[in-house]
Amino acid sequence: MRILLTSALLAALGLFDVPARAAERSAVIEYRQQVMRTLEAQFQAIMLIVTRDTSPENLHSHLSAALLTARMLPRAFEPRAPGGSSLPQVWTQWDDFAKHVREFEASVAIAAEAARNGTKPADVLYHIDAISCRDCHDLYRRD
Ligand code: HEC
Repeated sequence: MRILLTSALLAALGLFDVPARAAERSAVIEYRQQVMRTLEAQFQAIMLIVTRDTSPENLHSHLSAALLTARMLPRAFEPRAPGGSSLPQVWTQWDDFAKHVREFEASVAIAAEAARNGTKPADVLYHIDAISCRDCHDLYRRD
């Protein structure tokens, strides 16, 4: 009975909102980290293809998967949920962050296009080298 009363009181005061919002925020953070890990997995596979010639016929598919993932980034970071290893500048300088996302996406799109029709990995390498994760991490991610 006492527990019920306490819950009713907290609900009346609107205090239940606080943990709910915290849970929502941590899901937002976890989600964008999963999207980043998806990118990392694709690029690790891509590096194995270009350095060790493993499954070269899959290069275009991996770059396409990376491109789809890059397109998820704006939505993943849009909710202002500081935390994780994101620096606050992601949101305080949103226009510049969004520009980095667009540039990243454009460079992945160029490499994916170059890898079409079974082009040899060695001939796509130049475009893969132009893709930078660090440009954005140096500015927007905590070490
Ligand atoms: C436009 C900016 C941007 C680009 C481009 C970018 N990242 Fe990130 N990345 C971030 C930010 C910001 C975080 C911190 C996310 C957080 O924890 O809130 C992050 C976090 C990560 C993480 C850690 C995820 C975790 O488990 O906590 C990995 C891994 C990662 N990025 C890989 C990559 C790879 C690989 C690339 C390039 C192929 C890339 N990122 C490109 C901004 C970017």
